[in-house]
Parts: sequence; structure tokens; C-alpha cells
Amino acid sequence: MFKQCALLVLLVQLIDPSVAVVRFENLKYELNKDYMHGNIFIKSQNDKYAFGADVELAKKVEGSVIITPHLQHLIKGEYHTMVNIDLDTCKVDPVMSENPIVRTIAKESTKFINFSLMCPYNPGRYLLNDFTLDSESPLLKLIPNGKYKMELKATHYPTPDAPPTMLFGYSIDFELFAATR
Ligand SMILES: *[C@@H]1O[C@H](CO)[C@@H](O)[C@H](O)[C@H]1NC(C)=O
Repeated sequence: MFKQCALLVLLVQLIDPSVAVVRFENLKYELNKDYMHGNIFIKSQNDKYAFGADVELAKKVEGSVIITPHLQHLIKGEYHTMVNIDLDTCKVDPVMSENPIVRTIAKESTKFINFSLMCPYNPGRYLLNDFTLDSESPLLKLIPNGKYKMELKATHYPTPDAPPTMLFGYSIDFELFAATR
């Protein structure tokens, strides 16, 4: 019986690789209204979760933009940091990041966005269209199933000696689980 079930699950995965393996919750975010307005949101439908954004950037952003992704893994009620780095997107495209987790998330994101992750950022509308992960996602090979918290902040330094300005920040919890039906 168990073997038959396992085989069935395997078959379902082979036939339909787009089985959802992520659940998003507890989104909090802040946008700097002097630069942008819009929404960041979680969508859920039939047990499939997606993370999205629809943001209008009002002015050009260039110089230096430091993003600080902070990824934590929840193990036995305690958060353990897996990633906590500063990345200047005016110097390095996040899809080329030396950090394999950041690089993989950035590469996956490019399937869902209609803009470049690398600065400069021109005024316009920036869409993240239903980011999700399926059982084929390369991220699943880098981090184990379980619960996570991702916090990300973006800070703008228009000139090297200018004071830092917060552009936006968000925090989201997500859970990765084995693809089953
Ligand atoms: C992204 O798509 C929206 C909606 O179609 C469009 O208005 C916007 O100009 C696009 N942004 C870029 C950077 O191409």
C-alpha cells in the first residue's frame, strides 16, 4: 500500500512538475512614498501560493542601491540565519551573486518580473507576477523543507557621501514542503 502511494506521488510529479511546494504568509512591507507607491501581496488559490508586487517608481534610482536579504530557517522554534548579506545592485546583478541561495532566488525571480534586477531603476511600473516555486525549482536542492523568514531591505545612496534613504523593505514567512497531492 505504501509503495503504491509512493509510486502514485512519483507519477503525479513526473506528469505535472508544477506541483506547488511553497506556502507564503505574514507579509509585512513598507514603501518609501517619496520614491514609489503600490502594493506587495500574497495570493492563494486552491492551495497554490504566490507572492506578487505592483509598484510604480516615481523617480530614477541610481548611484548605489544596497539590498540586504536576510533569510532565516526556523528549527525547533528558533531562527537560524542562512543568508545575511549586503549586495550593491548598481555593481553586481543579483543573478550573478556569489551567494548561491541569493543567486538562485534572483534567477527564479527573473521568470516573474518585467524589469532588470540591476540598477539604475528608471521611473515606471514594476511587476512581480505571481512568484511561486514548484517541485522543479533549483532552490529545493539548496535549502531543506521547513519554515523560513525572509526579510529584505533596499537602501539608496544617491552619491557616496549622501545619507542613506530606505527605498522599501519587506518581511515574509514561507514554508517549503514535499510535493504531494
Ligand atoms: C511592466 O509591465 C507593465 C504592465 O504591462 C508596464 O506598464 C511597464 O511599463 C512594464 N515595465 C517595464 C520596466 O517594462
